[in-house]
Amino acid sequence: MKAVTFDEHGGLEVLKFGEVDTPEPGPGEVRVAVEACSLNYHDVFTRRGMPGIKTPLPMIPGCDAAGRVDAAGAGVEGWRHGDRVLVDPVQWTDDGRIQMIGDTRWGAYAEYVIVDARQLITLPDQVSAIDASCLPVAYGTAHRMMFTRGGVKAGETVFVLGASGGVGTCCVLLAKQAGAHVIAAAGSAEKCAALEALGADESVDYSTTDIAAFTRQRTGSLFSGGGWDVVVNFTGGDTWVPTLRMVKMGGRLLTCGATAGFDPATDIRFIWTAEMDIRGSNGWKRDDLASLLAMVADGRLKPVVDKVLPLSEGAEAMRLLEDRQFFGKIVLAP
Ligand SMILES: NC(=O)c1ccc[n+]([C@@H]2O[C@H](COP(=O)([O-])OP(=O)(O)OC[C@H]3O[C@@H](n4cnc5c(N)ncnc54)[C@H](OP(=O)(O)O)[C@@H]3O)[C@@H](O)[C@H]2O)c1
Repeated sequence: MKAVTFDEHGGLEVLKFGEVDTPEPGPGEVRVAVEACSLNYHDVFTRRGMPGIKTPLPMIPGCDAAGRVDAAGAGVEGWRHGDRVLVDPVQWTDDGRIQMIGDTRWGAYAEYVIVDARQLITLPDQVSAIDASCLPVAYGTAHRMMFTRGGVKAGETVFVLGASGGVGTCCVLLAKQAGAHVIAAAGSAEKCAALEALGADESVDYSTTDIAAFTRQRTGSLFSGGGWDVVVNFTGGDTWVPTLRMVKMGGRLLTCGATAGFDPATDIRFIWTAEMDIRGSNGWKRDDLASLLAMVADGRLKPVVDKVLPLSEGAEAMRLLEDRQFFGKIVLAP
């Protein structure tokens, strides 16, 4: 099969596009013919190598796959050749280990991917493979962070940092659906305009504007009721302390990642003074994916797809992601 692979960690130059042996499904496994695979920043972290995570090499990146059942291994029941499926990227093994495609198992920048049959979710006819492939990692995580962990409600003010990417655009869409007032923050005027077109009530370009100063100017000082009810920050790095200053008294700071660095400086004065809750959120549950699929099927949610590229342009797709030259999701269609 054709696939994008890397056999050492590094920059974009380690990615290769070519032929590898088509993998055979083992007992309990299914081979899925990939019709769409969306990119996530996780793919960049996996390619570079993440502290504490051992990536078996060579690796095929790609966590988010939708397609059709191609072949089944021994003992698989209930799935037929050609069934339309979405893959839940994560599967716990019976002995308590976490397995994830595009991370600890070969992923979906490929014509085929092998998964445990328990990872398959039936794809409703109304949902295209491209839209479905946007859901698990980015949208599933946004869904859990905003609702299960974050408890975002109608009437609240929600500030989303890094709003132009996969998780970010979904946070904007879900917060609007919940009836919140959404302030979307992104790295260019063009992305801010696109976020307002998507439904954000306000936007701020952090390449030209200090977001903490913007917040104080818009809402006043902490002691006079200033700040936002909910601030979403999965960027980390130098953005962490400014966002601590932006949470309203008794508000929540939500995080699920750290694109710009996981060990930033902090300033705990703001945590106690604002009596804020800092809530972490990790990944998704099956319920999150079921809710998202239902929303896409009945038209309440339309994933934001910037580009669909052929598999041969997998390295270029990753370049666009890493260089922040995209809005929403980039999808590969093998
Ligand atoms: N814990 C989990 O289960 C989980 C699941 C999904 C994602 N995550 C994490 O959440 C974060 C976002 O993921 P994603 O897939 O939505 O990423 P993405 O699509 O690449 O979007 C991230 C956005 O953040 C902004 N950004 C700010 N500083 C950046 C920097 N130094 N480098 C790159 N982008 C930067 C960029 O927007 P501008 O160009 O507008 O600045 C970019 O579009 C990642 O850290 C990811 O690992 C965690």
